[in-house]
Amino acid sequence: MQMKLWPAVALATAVCVAAHAEVPDFPLDFSLTSTAVNAFGAAAAHQRAGSLVSKMTLDEKLQFIHSEYAMSSVPGGGAGYIQGVSRLNIPDLNMVDSATGSGSTSQASTTFPATIALAASWDRRLSTEFGKQVAIQLRAQGFAMGLGGGTNLAREPRGGRLFEYLGEDPVLAGEMLAERTDGTQRQKVIATIKHYAGNEQEHNRGGGNSQIDERTLREIYLLPFEIAARSAQPGNVMCSYNRLNGDYACENAHLLNDVLKNDWRFEGQVQSDWGAAHSTAKAINAGLDEEEDVGSTVYLTPAAVKQAIANGSVSTARLDDMVRRKLYVMIRTGVMDDPPKASTIDFAGANVFTQAVAEQSMVLLKNDNNQLPLSAASLSRIAVIGGHADAAVLTGGGSGNTRDPVTGSFAGCGGLTFGTSTGCSWWTNPWLKLNVPIVSAIHALAPAAQVSFAGNSDQQTPFRAYTQQEIDQAAALAGRSDVAVVVVAQPAGEDFGDLQSLSLANPSNQDALVEAVANANPRTIVIVESGNPVLMPWKDRVAAIVEAWYPGEGGGKAIADVLFGKVNPSGKLPVTFPMHDQDTPTWGQNGAFEPDPVYAEKLDMGYRWYDAKNIAPMFEFGYGLSYTHFAYSGLSVIHRPDGAIDVLFNVRNDGRVAGAEVPQVYLGVPYSGEPPRRLVGWEKVGLNPGEARRVRITIPQRMQSVWDTSRNNWRYVPGGTVYVGASSRDIRLQGS
Ligand code: BGC
Repeated sequence: MQMKLWPAVALATAVCVAAHAEVPDFPLDFSLTSTAVNAFGAAAAHQRAGSLVSKMTLDEKLQFIHSEYAMSSVPGGGAGYIQGVSRLNIPDLNMVDSATGSGSTSQASTTFPATIALAASWDRRLSTEFGKQVAIQLRAQGFAMGLGGGTNLAREPRGGRLFEYLGEDPVLAGEMLAERTDGTQRQKVIATIKHYAGNEQEHNRGGGNSQIDERTLREIYLLPFEIAARSAQPGNVMCSYNRLNGDYACENAHLLNDVLKNDWRFEGQVQSDWGAAHSTAKAINAGLDEEEDVGSTVYLTPAAVKQAIANGSVSTARLDDMVRRKLYVMIRTGVMDDPPKASTIDFAGANVFTQAVAEQSMVLLKNDNNQLPLSAASLSRIAVIGGHADAAVLTGGGSGNTRDPVTGSFAGCGGLTFGTSTGCSWWTNPWLKLNVPIVSAIHALAPAAQVSFAGNSDQQTPFRAYTQQEIDQAAALAGRSDVAVVVVAQPAGEDFGDLQSLSLANPSNQDALVEAVANANPRTIVIVESGNPVLMPWKDRVAAIVEAWYPGEGGGKAIADVLFGKVNPSGKLPVTFPMHDQDTPTWGQNGAFEPDPVYAEKLDMGYRWYDAKNIAPMFEFGYGLSYTHFAYSGLSVIHRPDGAIDVLFNVRNDGRVAGAEVPQVYLGVPYSGEPPRRLVGWEKVGLNPGEARRVRITIPQRMQSVWDTSRNNWRYVPGGTVYVGASSRDIRLQGS
């Protein structure tokens, strides 16, 4: 069997060591896979920004800190723009959503996989490349700032925007975000990290008060932002809609001034989410640098800020600081001297990349008796059932969506008549030649077999429940086929609320469909398209399960390649898949969402919750199978004089096909309140059959530390237990 690996993984060196960049206050020591480059050195950029500010008039400064919602008025569409100052050669700054390609614009874009899929690849270099590929399209469309980079954590597994984020672990999310940020900014596009902070649910999204104690904030929810802000220096941090411990995030002095700008020494700008500003002087003095106006909120308008300056509630020095920060970012990333120009996009090339990301991200959850990979030679009849697998794959909705490269309509709408309230159902366009539906992709790999589809072919109401007749027809087809591939899907999107349950909904009877097919054919393979964990009451009755996430426009081919073993799956879950809704930390008595969520589980979020409470998940964090096996041996733990620990061990591919493994290092920190284990490092290692590598993962001192509230600082806690595993629960080696 051939195995496709993203080159970075294939070329992974035998010893993977993080280099160390000293951070004066407390070493964080996360380094990027490449050295961050700045078009302009920081000191020179500061000096030049300062000199420009001194030449700007008050009105020019004021126009620089407020953006109108401008989709219709910005050339090429977009989510907002800041008008430049032509007499000083300061260009306009157009910005656009970029979670999975360029969204919130009328321009065509590639639909990349959802970022939760990217997290499931655990491949840092893939994340850098993801940031780069998205940025190339943004620049070609005239955008100098991308609003991708979501990294709220999966505290609420039913969260409506989970697909836009990077899972439940702060270190995994932070490092993947840092890489993505760097990949984007190297293309001279300002990157955003968002939504800062405590924005873990859609429920009461306009102003719910997230109540999070300081230690939990520092160790969990702020950590991905800190890792990205310190190591990749994004130009832009977007503060969120919610309140945090009483104050709106965009006027929260602790979040913006104390932590971000002072503790982390962030030199870029803070921008409000769209309509998330709630005051003028309070917000500005708390650290907000730019307001994104949606028409109804008008707090940082020229008139309002002028008045605040006149009455002394905002200083001119602070206004200068706001403007200088934006100029500094524009200079440092290269946007100032080389603003984006419209150019042609290589959609075919980008499509190849999206497929590679999807392939690296798929997680093989179950594979009884090696039912996968399928062998085309032994199959004459293949049934493909449900999930509109004859037409398209699912994407997430809202600002994390994209426009398709042919029609320029939202990825879900282009060329399709699938309908919902917004006119789009978020399915990538099947008429686009680049986007091969699963049925066709399977047929291409098994040309001699008869590939038949059953399910809901109704494009008008794609999410309606399957009729009993459709279920019966699907089961009959499965019964006369050699294998049945059932596709189930869980739609989600911004502004559509959180999911009520992790049960498959929309269509609501997908579980019944799977059960009927599994009864008819013991060789039933389930493909899940989702941005959230899903419950699988049929898990024990099907032969194999693949989590494909929202796989983007190359998803059909990627799924077929995994099914037929052209690709050996190597994704690992970035979120826990629980057995029941009731097992999750946020379900409470009856699953009702708290309008003002209290993060009462503190540090025990995600896998830490299941470990601390001894609840068996259905599939744990970090879990994922392969078509080969990996053996772990030879652990040594070396303490370095700087307090860091080197964890060394061997990983051997002891199966018959090439594959990639993600060995994970967890630490049990001996300190009150800490969870049994927390992720502190990992590597993705590609290995040929019989090949072994010695892997070295360095755990900086900071990753062995806890937030000490009595000192309001980090406290190094030596003497932890080191666990090396193939998942958070499949621990293979242990040392101290
Ligand atoms: C979302 C942001 C997005 C912005 C602009 C808001 O509703 O929360 O993530 O960047 O819209 O489209």
